[in-house]
Amino acid sequence: MRLGIYTDPHYSSQTVTCGVRFNSRSLGKLREAYRFFERAGCDLAVCLGDLIDKEPDHETEIADLRQAAGVIAASSVPTVCLMGNHDAFSFTQEEFYAVLGEDCRPYDRVLHGKSLIFLDACYFGDGRRYMPGDTDWTDTYCPHVEELRKALASARGDVYVFVHQNLDPAAGERHLISNAASINDILSGCPKVRAVYQGHYHPGCRNVINGIRYITFPAMCESDGAFFIEDI
Ligand SMILES: [Fe+2]
Ligand SMILES: [Fe+2]
Repeated sequence: MRLGIYTDPHYSSQTVTCGVRFNSRSLGKLREAYRFFERAGCDLAVCLGDLIDKEPDHETEIADLRQAAGVIAASSVPTVCLMGNHDAFSFTQEEFYAVLGEDCRPYDRVLHGKSLIFLDACYFGDGRRYMPGDTDWTDTYCPHVEELRKALASARGDVYVFVHQNLDPAAGERHLISNAASINDILSGCPKVRAVYQGHYHPGCRNVINGIRYITFPAMCESDGAFFIEDI
């Protein structure tokens, strides 16, 4: 099965933020990514989060997300889109998928005999969910540990895990999900797990932990050609 993967477009009307994020250019890069995925015959595209960035008013944020949704919906390649902390800063989950399209919701699935598991770590360490205007990129937590354990126990075929924030300690402590160690223990205990795909840490990094590949993809907003094929 062929996946097209990208992360962290941070699309907004801003030309540049944080000195290195070329927000407004990401819409064109999204179009380029989907042309590439279509030519490559991808079965599924996955956006690993931070699709949009904040604007001075919410109407503009909705307009930005609609523009990104238009590119995604126009493609023959279906998309699953995780929410990142920047998406959660501007949108509730309900509003995000209402605008983006319910088809993009990340529910676990078996595709071509492979199990795809999507984790949500848009929570504070104390268990509260991120809400619009109330997020913290350095305080992130995944409460769905028991669900993961059950999903792995019943998973069919090879397992691939997708999450916006980082389970790979190589991304550095501030990007790391606070309960990453216990999640990694659970993943290590399941011989079906092949890879963990992450965003959030914009430079990207690669690692192997207990035989599982951990791949953090570089951010689309910070470079050209930051869209990737994974044959699994
Ligand atoms: Fe990001
Ligand atoms: Fe992020």
